[in-house]
Amino acid sequence: MKIAVIGKGRVGSVLGPAFAKAGHEVVYGVREPADEKYDNGDEIPHDTTEGAAQWGEVVILAVDWSVAESALAECGDLGGKILIDCTNPLTMGEEGLELALGFDTSAGEILAGQTAAKAVKTLNQVGSPVMGMAHAFPNRPIQFVAGEDEDAKALVSSLLRDIGFEPIDYGGIRNARQLEPLAMVWIDQAFKHGMDPQTAWHFMKADGD
Ligand SMILES: NC(=O)c1ccc[n+]([C@@H]2O[C@H](COP(=O)([O-])OP(=O)(O)OC[C@H]3O[C@@H](n4cnc5c(N)ncnc54)[C@H](OP(=O)(O)O)[C@@H]3O)[C@@H](O)[C@H]2O)c1
Repeated sequence: MKIAVIGKGRVGSVLGPAFAKAGHEVVYGVREPADEKYDNGDEIPHDTTEGAAQWGEVVILAVDWSVAESALAECGDLGGKILIDCTNPLTMGEEGLELALGFDTSAGEILAGQTAAKAVKTLNQVGSPVMGMAHAFPNRPIQFVAGEDEDAKALVSSLLRDIGFEPIDYGGIRNARQLEPLAMVWIDQAFKHGMDPQTAWHFMKADGD
């Protein structure tokens, strides 16, 4: 598939090569495509945010929450496309990173309401180091998938499998209200409790009936 990755930061620079390695065509959408700072040797082309988003069949939004709405607007009309929203609405609180919103809305719902794309919330639940090495875990790491469109979720689930995750349907986009706090659990463990950042969520079943 043609996958546009908007933002070449920690998440984007891991997801781009992961999807390229899985056989997909990838183009980055960045603010200054000619800027050498984006050249990290991964050989994935850069375009403007709008250029990449209009080219892609799937658009991955991998920018900070503070600029997520404006970056999504820069993408232009995404009608007919799928948006993968991996943002977490983080802000810096007195005790470190915390959620900027929750309970009555979510970044997932806000962004889904601002695009004609079929929005799917996923790839927000673990740190970027995990996203590029999901195949390396002894058991498949999970990734919950929330969104209104079943076909879009099925396609995104297939993309998640391509990079080594086990996708789990998590219902409608409203459930991003649980997936964004789930990211906070991972962040808290990694930043405050010494968890190795190469740690992922996994579901286990008991033996027997
Ligand atoms: N880091 C993680 O482990 C992790 C894990 C799960 C989810 N997330 C979420 O994923 C999102 C990205 O996180 P990150 O850690 O990758 O952030 P990051 O390292 O700060 O990178 C974000 C990138 O977005 C770019 N950007 C800003 N506005 C843009 C625009 N209009 N068009 C294109 N690119 C734009 C910035 O580019 P410039 O260089 O031009 O400023 C920057 O490189 C956040 O919402 C975060 O909460 C992060």
